Amino acid sequence: MKSLVLPSYNKNIIRAMLGLKVQESELPVPNSNDVLIKIHASPVNPSDIAFMQGTYNIVKTLPAIPGFEASGEVIDAGIEARSYIGKKVSCFVQDDLGGTWSDYVKANVNDVIVLKDDMNMDQAACFTVNPFTAYGLFDIVLLRESKAIIQNAAGSQVAAFIRKMAQINYTKVINIVRKQETADKLLSDGIKYVLVDIDEDFVEKLTELSLKLNPTVAFDAVGGTLAGYMFNSLDNDSELVVYGGLSGKPISGINVMDVIFKNKIISGFNLIDWKSEIGVDEFMKISEVLQNKFIDGTYSTSVIGYSSLDDIVKGLKGYISDMSNGKLLVKP
Ligand SMILES: NC(=O)c1ccc[n+]([C@@H]2O[C@H](COP(=O)([O-])OP(=O)(O)OC[C@H]3O[C@@H](n4cnc5c(N)ncnc54)[C@H](OP(=O)(O)O)[C@@H]3O)[C@@H](O)[C@H]2O)c1
Repeated sequence: MKSLVLPSYNKNIIRAMLGLKVQESELPVPNSNDVLIKIHASPVNPSDIAFMQGTYNIVKTLPAIPGFEASGEVIDAGIEARSYIGKKVSCFVQDDLGGTWSDYVKANVNDVIVLKDDMNMDQAACFTVNPFTAYGLFDIVLLRESKAIIQNAAGSQVAAFIRKMAQINYTKVINIVRKQETADKLLSDGIKYVLVDIDEDFVEKLTELSLKLNPTVAFDAVGGTLAGYMFNSLDNDSELVVYGGLSGKPISGINVMDVIFKNKIISGFNLIDWKSEIGVDEFMKISEVLQNKFIDGTYSTSVIGYSSLDDIVKGLKGYISDMSNGKLLVKP
């Protein structure tokens, strides 16, 4: 099979991606509970960028095949997984030896979702991570019966799913982005509350809007002082949920009096922990609900384009220069 291979981690993402090489190797042999998937497509996610920089929580033995998520067809399986052969699947693989920026990947059946016939395979490539993350995050909004929320990195795909869930549940969303062009796009899509964090009066605008809407949940994928501003803008009895660290900066500027006297808390969300907390049966039920919403067109991931394994550097440069535009799909 052909795969992309990362020879070394590098904090400088351009240097890290320039190191990527296409390499040929033997097909992996599935163990008893594994399937071998012929990959249809695999997205580029912020976790892949952090992985190449060596700053993600998964560090593989080098040289490593990047990519954690894909769609494809099962073409072989171990003795306990033979029933999967021929099935269309989405997978999430964090194995040391495997990666999804490849022709094929080996995956444990626990990391595989069998897809309904009508599921679009490009959409399926981005199915195992972001839709479930948004679902898990939005569960917090439902539990807290929050009527309004704040989210940053609001041009992201996770943020778009959260907005959709909020719309269905009549929850107001204050969206924060870092570029005016992203704000313009969201506003032209009919999204009401959009703030740009580099605007001079950003903090005043956020405070004003928060006093009007009384948000009790904030989703932070950025960190730094922005997370602090979001926390301070929340109403009493509220929660800042940290699920990403895109700025690479520690959260700062938290008003300690709010923590002590206003019952405000900070929590973390991680998809893998959430998945094991809810258990297999509940996860399968949610998968069914989400797949139906993809099939009927309620939910979708924006895809900006495709890259072959050979052309990955060009594709990655395009993605990191404008991540809000949609996902790049690596297609072997
Ligand atoms: N905790 C979990 O289990 C979990 C699971 C899935 C995803 N996530 C996290 O969710 C976040 C969104 O993922 P995604 O796949 O939806 O992203 P995406 O669609 O690829 O978009 C990335 C977004 O992040 C913005 N961004 C990048 N660097 C930024 C920075 N330093 N400051 C502010 N905004 C920045 C981009 O804005 P520009 O257009 O301005 O570049 C873009 O809107 C990521 O942090 C990801 O790691 C967490």
